[in-house]
Amino acid sequence: MEVNAQVMQALLSTAALLLLVISMRATQLLPAGRESDKIVEVELPERSLAMLPPESETKRIAITFYTAPAPFDGAEGMRQKLAIHSWLHLDLRPDVVLMGRHPSLKTFAETLQPYVTVDSDIDITFMGNPMFHSMIGRVQASSSEIVVLIDPNLVLLNDFTAAITKVRAVDSNWLLVVKPIHTTIFPFELQGSSGSWLHSDGLYVEPDEVRKIVRQKGSSGDCYGPGLWAWNKADAQLHAGVIPPFVYGSGHHSEWLLTEALVSKYRTVIDGSDVITLVAPQHVASRIYNGDGALGRPWDVAGNRVLAMQYGSLYYRPADLSNVTVKLIKCGEKLRRGLCLYNRTDLLEACKPHNRKLRLAQKVDPQASRDWFKFSQWFGRSSSDRGVQALDCKTIASLTNEYVRCPRLTKKSIKVSELWLPFSLEALASRVASPDKVIILSVAGDSYRTMLMSWVCSLRRLNISNYLVYALDDELYQHAVSQGVPVVKSSQTMRVSRDDCHFGTKCFQEVTKMKSRTVLHLLQLGFKVLFSDVDVYWFQNPIQEMMAYGPGTLVAQTDQYNETEAANLPRRLNSGFYFAWSDRATVAAFVKIVKHAMTSNMSEQPSFYDTMCGLDGVYRVGDDKCVEPDTNVTAIFLDRRTYPNGASGNHWEQRDVRKSCEQQGCRVLHNNWVSGRERKLKRQIAAGLWDYDETTRMCVTHRKKVQS
Ligand SMILES: *[C@@H]1O[C@H](CO)[C@@H](O)[C@H](O)[C@H]1NC(C)=O
Ligand SMILES: *[C@@H]1O[C@H](CO)[C@@H](O)[C@H](O)[C@H]1NC(C)=O
Ligand SMILES: *[C@@H]1O[C@H](CO)[C@@H](O)[C@H](O)[C@H]1NC(C)=O
Ligand SMILES: *[C@@H]1O[C@H](CO)[C@@H](O)[C@H](O)[C@H]1NC(C)=O
Ligand SMILES: *[C@@H]1O[C@H](CO)[C@@H](O)[C@H](O)[C@H]1NC(C)=O
Ligand SMILES: *[C@@H]1O[C@H](CO)[C@@H](O)[C@H](O)[C@H]1NC(C)=O
Repeated sequence: MEVNAQVMQALLSTAALLLLVISMRATQLLPAGRESDKIVEVELPERSLAMLPPESETKRIAITFYTAPAPFDGAEGMRQKLAIHSWLHLDLRPDVVLMGRHPSLKTFAETLQPYVTVDSDIDITFMGNPMFHSMIGRVQASSSEIVVLIDPNLVLLNDFTAAITKVRAVDSNWLLVVKPIHTTIFPFELQGSSGSWLHSDGLYVEPDEVRKIVRQKGSSGDCYGPGLWAWNKADAQLHAGVIPPFVYGSGHHSEWLLTEALVSKYRTVIDGSDVITLVAPQHVASRIYNGDGALGRPWDVAGNRVLAMQYGSLYYRPADLSNVTVKLIKCGEKLRRGLCLYNRTDLLEACKPHNRKLRLAQKVDPQASRDWFKFSQWFGRSSSDRGVQALDCKTIASLTNEYVRCPRLTKKSIKVSELWLPFSLEALASRVASPDKVIILSVAGDSYRTMLMSWVCSLRRLNISNYLVYALDDELYQHAVSQGVPVVKSSQTMRVSRDDCHFGTKCFQEVTKMKSRTVLHLLQLGFKVLFSDVDVYWFQNPIQEMMAYGPGTLVAQTDQYNETEAANLPRRLNSGFYFAWSDRATVAAFVKIVKHAMTSNMSEQPSFYDTMCGLDGVYRVGDDKCVEPDTNVTAIFLDRRTYPNGASGNHWEQRDVRKSCEQQGCRVLHNNWVSGRERKLKRQIAAGLWDYDETTRMCVTHRKKVQS
């Protein structure tokens, strides 16, 4: 509430702020307007204070900042708050969107409504890290005229406003990048109401002073990608191709994006680092540009590296800011200071010895040619132009060399390795399990890759995070790791040769029996398990309902296809969707099922029924239960109306499968009773019971869903 009030006050004291802005800009006039669409241009307009763009004009720029903060606690939380407040105090008055799912984001945003909102519609890894491709996807979905992607730790000073106004006048598709300045100390605080900077010695400091101190004391000799990206929402893409699913903050994604943007040439990439003060206070290890992935977990860093190498052009030509040739700089004489864009390559060309004559000729007749007219401004037209900040070739050369040569990724420096997670089944289960020790488990091989991802996305949509995946082959394992899915593989499974392990073979039966064996393993570790095949589409979270029967029960879907017949008739237990408790009796019953399956020459499904209900159903009780006599564990067959298999309810034959099932109160719908993987896949996609976009490798968001 307090912060909210402060911001309101800040926004209300517009007049005071404007005065401050004017005084601040007395020496740095805003070149406004759209008079030029060329990159090489010099702006020395006859402007006076009176010609400053009025407040309303500045405000009209719809600009939205996107950032993916860490949870708001501790020192990092404080830093993020300072950074976000510095953005909110820009004259541009941006909207700020926090991307992420941690509850502290909502709590923080609530104090700053309506300027700060939360977008939780992004893909995160099971460790809670946002995924970069999904972040960019959310930013691209923005309707704002200008969007900014910024590291949550970086303080931004108000020189950003002039820069963005200038760049906005470039009538083209542009992408502005800024590298941060690191300072070991940043002894300033924002005073809420006025947005003034308060030094820790208790004195207010002019923004220009803050900028000066930062630029003097700070260093920007770091490599790697930008800490801030801004672009106009024109029709052009940022780059060709598709961003691989990088883990945000684990390195390589920023260099990758910069490289692709430069190589694709869809937009003019502009380096604004000289005129935009972006500060990394204290020893912030920043997420967005940490090329070495210093913040990331080792396996995420390795994963990002593999993805960076495998997709796009980074493999051949990794870029950093020294590759960005168009720069935004200050220019013009003292009282007419403005911002100019210049193309370093152009100027370097003009500086070559054989062009010296041209330059001299130019000094004599500045109007000789349009291009050279522009050029001449850089070198000073006449001796009367003393005030002009003339750039001579020496200065240009030094500007070009200012970037230290960064260590680059090369084919040699990177041994392309595999994607991996360092967790055993037990470690992973402990990590993802809900507080009441429930695990949702699925088992899949690579031929069901997209269906698995759709299943994962539907769990994410339902805000369910206590799931894990058991990979039957290495391809699926790698894919799942790259998508932030909690996944394990067993060395045993991996020995299985793929070619001779297809449906119906002995090998296949052994592999599918991994399902019950993995469930048993988890039960023995003390976890309750909801097993779900990937072809079970989830409409609602069924866990509470399935747990309501209590320990000593095995609650399963029936595979009965005949609506009028009992759910528990022989071999009608579907082992593709069930809940098992970890009490002693249930574990004992499960041991029997697994033993039965191991000696059977069939798939594991009949072993469930034959163990729990007896051969020919001798242990049946009523028409929806069986009691296994040795353990007294009760098998409970779920209601077919709310847990339909692929044959019950005729849902799959309906025009609107979703509606048909939802009207009947479906918790889940099994896409079985269809032969062939292809047909299964087709009908589920056709029915729209699909939450994954294979092209972008992202979960389909709610918003897109509503539109379609
Ligand atoms: C970036 O610059 C380096 C060194 O000049 C060069 O080797 C590399 O190809 C450039 N990358 C791009 C994408 O332009
Ligand atoms: C910069 O100048 C060089 C040389 O004239 C040109 O090839 C390049 O396309 C220019 N870059 C941009 C972004 O205009
Ligand atoms: C999602 O689940 C978490 C805990 O698992 C909870 O804190 C959060 O509020 C939930 N979010 C929504 C939108 O339901
Ligand atoms: C369902 O079972 C009833 C009797 O139990 C039988 O008459 C009917 O033909 C069966 N329907 C199908 C589709 O098998
Ligand atoms: C499985 O074994 C049974 C005997 O235990 C036999 O009758 C049946 O033909 C076998 N099926 C297959 C597919 O091998
Ligand atoms: C199973 O239940 C029956 C009857 O309630 C009881 O006699 C028997 O001891 C129970 N067996 C076990 C293993 O609990």
